[in-house]
Amino acid sequence: MEIVLSGIRPTGNLHLGNYFGALQNFVKMQYEYKCYFFIADLHSLTTHPTPADLHGNVRTILAEYLACGIDPDVATIFVQSDIPEISELYLLLNMNAYIGELERTTTFKEKIRTQPDNVNAGLLTYPVLQAADILIHKATKVPVGKDQKPHLEITAKYARRFNQLYKVDYFPEPEAFNFGENLVKVPGLDGSAKMGKSAGNGIYLVDEPKVIRKKVMSAVTDTGPTEPNQQMTDGVKNLFTIMTIVSAQDTVAHFKEKYNSCEIRYGDMKKQLAEDIVTYLTPIREKINDIYKDNDYLRKVVNMGSEKARESASKTLREVREIIGFKPF
Ligand code: ADP
Ligand code: TRP
Repeated sequence: MEIVLSGIRPTGNLHLGNYFGALQNFVKMQYEYKCYFFIADLHSLTTHPTPADLHGNVRTILAEYLACGIDPDVATIFVQSDIPEISELYLLLNMNAYIGELERTTTFKEKIRTQPDNVNAGLLTYPVLQAADILIHKATKVPVGKDQKPHLEITAKYARRFNQLYKVDYFPEPEAFNFGENLVKVPGLDGSAKMGKSAGNGIYLVDEPKVIRKKVMSAVTDTGPTEPNQQMTDGVKNLFTIMTIVSAQDTVAHFKEKYNSCEIRYGDMKKQLAEDIVTYLTPIREKINDIYKDNDYLRKVVNMGSEKARESASKTLREVREIIGFKPF
């Protein structure tokens, strides 16, 4: 069975974009592929070296993944730092990773710009650690957004390089998982094309109803259409897109008709949208909060995930050591 692997850095709560663009697909994929989902806590240190509550951040993502429907009995869900084999493979891959190519990576150049006071070696070798994450489980499909494409290309390059250097056919070359037509892009409440955690234009899965209402009511719109079937401005288009995702079809049809006949009152539409989001998210939020508090359950999930992940990881590491030439005395 094809192996799928996805990692997420624990640097914030999941928002509606993560949910509809990634998690909902992961939940379906876990029944079709052998899936590894992990929390890249080591990677998060490259940008947040002294996190206020690393454990809490990891716990949050865990609770969110589980509440959204990732089944720990079906998929393997684990925390990166629990698997020491990843760090050792990272060290070994570093020997065949060249500084020049890492310096040219677009994501590294971007980081130099955004955090000029902390250009650490972990940032430079970020793609090597990501390659170790992927190769340690010999994953072939990696669901990632566009911004992660360079890292996947590097991973494929290192897989190829390892095979050539040691004259083996060992690592498969992974590729980006393409959700095809199922790929949903959730736009921002500020009129921008994408909801994102750093953009501050999003609704989080754990947002309380009053927070959701406030955010939706202050979403960007315009002064209203003045002629029938007028083209929508970005903010209005975004509200309709989000409505299409969370509301009933006839609700969307109702407001489209109002828009096209210039009778729309954005306030009414926003109120309806906010209630539909609240209805959608309430069971998810309650589940997240319950799981977050349930330490026994979380411990059980993490232990089970570590065990499964280490089984696969230690096999790869053992074989890699052997291929390179490490031998026991
Ligand atoms: P963020 O933009 O909040 O930093 P990440 O880059 O960590 O999110 O993305 C994690 C996953 O969620 C990726 O698979 C990404 O494609 C998906 N994702 C993020 N934002 C959106 C969005 N607005 N619409 C659809 N998918 C999204
Ligand atoms: N770099 C990814 C991101 O920022 C997170 C990540 C780390 C990852 N290791 C991975 C994603 C391995 C896929 C596979 O989103």
